[in-house]
Amino acid sequence: MQFIDLNAQQKIIRKKIDKRIQSVLDHGKYIMGPEVYELEERLADYVGVKHCITCSSGTDALLIPLMAKNIGIGDAVITTPFTYIATAEVISLLGAVPIFVDVDPVTFNINANEIEQAIHKAKNKGLCPKAIIAVDLFGLPARYRLIEKIASKNNLFLIEDTAQGFGGSIRKKMAGSFGNVGSTSFFPAKPFGCYGDGGAIFTSDEELAKIMESIRVHGSGLDKYDNVRVGINGRLDTIQAAILLEKLAIFDNEITLRNQVSNYYSENISSKYKKPYIPRDYISSWAQYSILAHSSSCRNHIINSMVKHGTPIMIYYKIPLHLQKVYNSIGYKNGDFPITEKISKCIFSIPMHPYLSKKDQDFIIKILNAEYKN
Ligand SMILES: Cc1ncc(COP(=O)(O)O)c(C=O)c1O
Repeated sequence: MQFIDLNAQQKIIRKKIDKRIQSVLDHGKYIMGPEVYELEERLADYVGVKHCITCSSGTDALLIPLMAKNIGIGDAVITTPFTYIATAEVISLLGAVPIFVDVDPVTFNINANEIEQAIHKAKNKGLCPKAIIAVDLFGLPARYRLIEKIASKNNLFLIEDTAQGFGGSIRKKMAGSFGNVGSTSFFPAKPFGCYGDGGAIFTSDEELAKIMESIRVHGSGLDKYDNVRVGINGRLDTIQAAILLEKLAIFDNEITLRNQVSNYYSENISSKYKKPYIPRDYISSWAQYSILAHSSSCRNHIINSMVKHGTPIMIYYKIPLHLQKVYNSIGYKNGDFPITEKISKCIFSIPMHPYLSKKDQDFIIKILNAEYKN
């Protein structure tokens, strides 16, 4: 059994992908070829925004908008400590400081009710709060109705980090369309992944889109030899765009299948575990199916048992960002974000992908439920 079975997906679309790659090899436009522009058009349409700017990774999809807003030394960016390092790393790369906010105990996403406190905290530290990066953790969109209001009231730029949440929605509004900018990752294991690194940025702000396009190609002006600002080499390869075009054709069906897998888990895993909660009118893209054991030792027990039965299991995330060595210098300590810290001690993720069989699911459920019988 695999944690994420990319081969099962490849079998379905292999011939079409081969044909797409062949076509790129034939036309030879490996950088910014026609597939890149076709994908951008299709994705902007899918998300429901005016502009999609593909780029080299989900990390660069966060870095580019921050660069476009000139965020840097002396600035603060509010975000969650319960995410992958990339979310905060881009803030630090630019010399700004990540100000963390604890997560909601039910959804594990940033607790919107604590954001304003963090804004005050940043100001008290002598920093200038400039932006919020909210994360759609494990596929579930954050509480944007509230977060957008707070961002607008405090004049903060809002980025939706939907690296894990692409394909999800709130009241039929697609992930990637919230805030000023949405950013996603095409890392292979993500719900919408390619066969290498890749990412995309979404916005309806025309002027911002132009600046971000320029940053993506070395701060280009009239062309890439006319340089009007500091930029990066942040383009998506044409071959990856070609692969994603074929994956997009089956993506909605895959989201439906992921939701069927998650429903079956939720109906059959013992209620002794804390299972994922999806608020009404929210759709998750189920990047992960993550549950909480009662305690850290209970989790160890479960992991041992899963490993003994040859069942893959992962922990996202064992060390919250505020306790990572890289952030020692900011001065956070144990106890600063009790919900995040408690979750990180008890959480684990079980196999989740659109092609997971009922038989494999039943096997996993049996192991998990047996733990609480012993
Ligand atoms: C929440 C989040 N943000 C950003 C990223 C960065 O994406 P990439 O690996 O494509 O740079 C990831 C990838 O794991 C992620 O999970």
